Amino acid sequence: MEFVTAGESHGPQLVGIVSGIPAGLAISEQSINADLARRQSGYGRGGRQAIEHDRITVLSGIRFGTTLGTPIALAIENKDWKNWTDRMAAFGEAPANLVREVTPRPGHADLVGILKNDMEDCRNILERASARETAMRVAAAGIAKEFLAQMGVDIFSYVTSIGDAIFEEEDPFMDAPDYKTLDIETSEVRCPDEEASKRMMAAIDKAKEEGESLGGTFRVVVTGLIPALGGFESGPERLTSQLGQALFSIPAIKGVEFGLGFEAARKPGSHVHDEIVLDDKQGFIRTSNNAGGLEGGMTTGMPLIVTLAMKPIPTLTNPLQTVNIDTLEVAEASKERSDVCAVPAAAVVAESEVAFVLANAYLKKFGCDTMTDIKQNLQSFKQRIKTMSR
Ligand SMILES: Cc1cc2nc3c(=O)[nH]c(=O)nc-3n(C[C@H](O)[C@H](O)[C@H](O)COP(=O)(O)O)c2cc1C
Repeated sequence: MEFVTAGESHGPQLVGIVSGIPAGLAISEQSINADLARRQSGYGRGGRQAIEHDRITVLSGIRFGTTLGTPIALAIENKDWKNWTDRMAAFGEAPANLVREVTPRPGHADLVGILKNDMEDCRNILERASARETAMRVAAAGIAKEFLAQMGVDIFSYVTSIGDAIFEEEDPFMDAPDYKTLDIETSEVRCPDEEASKRMMAAIDKAKEEGESLGGTFRVVVTGLIPALGGFESGPERLTSQLGQALFSIPAIKGVEFGLGFEAARKPGSHVHDEIVLDDKQGFIRTSNNAGGLEGGMTTGMPLIVTLAMKPIPTLTNPLQTVNIDTLEVAEASKERSDVCAVPAAAVVAESEVAFVLANAYLKKFGCDTMTDIKQNLQSFKQRIKTMSR
């Protein structure tokens, strides 16, 4: 399963092609649109979200709500395009009154992008480096989420901190899977704790007042996984490396931890590794989940729990110093319309990246032509490991 996206932030559309999807998979347009709405929401988002109401258009690969096993082409309209038709036109001359972006923002792709591509207008970089592109990632991964649901797998995410406002947890690696029964989506910061949510929102209010921006941390939790997805045979086979690559592809993600993560480095081995027991009903299980569901580059069958750190948004209403690339003089960085905090949205994007990697891991293990064969293969694998643990 692969996907490719195209589209500028203020172009007419975002488009995506998802290939390698098995035939016979039921797809719900509503579920994909619901995820797109979740990516758009969150306390501290900028004015752009009021303009856009992301909806998916399917151009190929699905008939009467079921995949055909052919490439799925998707499109999302950029409603803001109507305000940019002259400035973002594919052909013709640039308008005489075009204002070039010449004050690159520290923390964004602006400066390094123009050096890389030999450009004189940061807009030629920021239009694609913008996280608007992640809307199409969410849509494309909607297909992967539907596939995983058929495998009995469920993915959700929740925010653990925004700035210095923290949701304190005792043992998230055992407790977090139960959070899915709490209503995370009613919190405007997508945190399961009401008190912590209020503190996070207050931190965002304060940052906004001060012309600041905030980052934060969040977890992606996956339940219902079988053991032995991924591989130990080589670096690229390791699910850990595939997930790491996918999650670090999200703009502004600066840290990814599996289970205990960095904390594991500070503890002795007996406090880190998850003891193996044989349960009458469930077979091999663990008494703890410090590994976050991965061992030797493969799933253990325990919930997968990944924690991510997002840096603060680079665009500031109280801008940092930069250099004007025309005059080479000191200047204030550009002030694009921007989010103050996008941590709850980034968590939705991270769910999507995780979904894609896991869907591929299932396909690699169980085949990829049709859901009928894949489901049968999954059942026979489950039977084999059940027999083995008896
Ligand atoms: C969901 C989401 C929304 C974002 N919104 C903005 C934004 O409104 N303004 C902005 O300057 N950066 C925003 N960012 C962050 C930039 O995309 C990111 O900092 C930039 O691409 C540089 O990323 P890098 O430091 O990982 O290279 C957002 C990121 C995500 C994941």
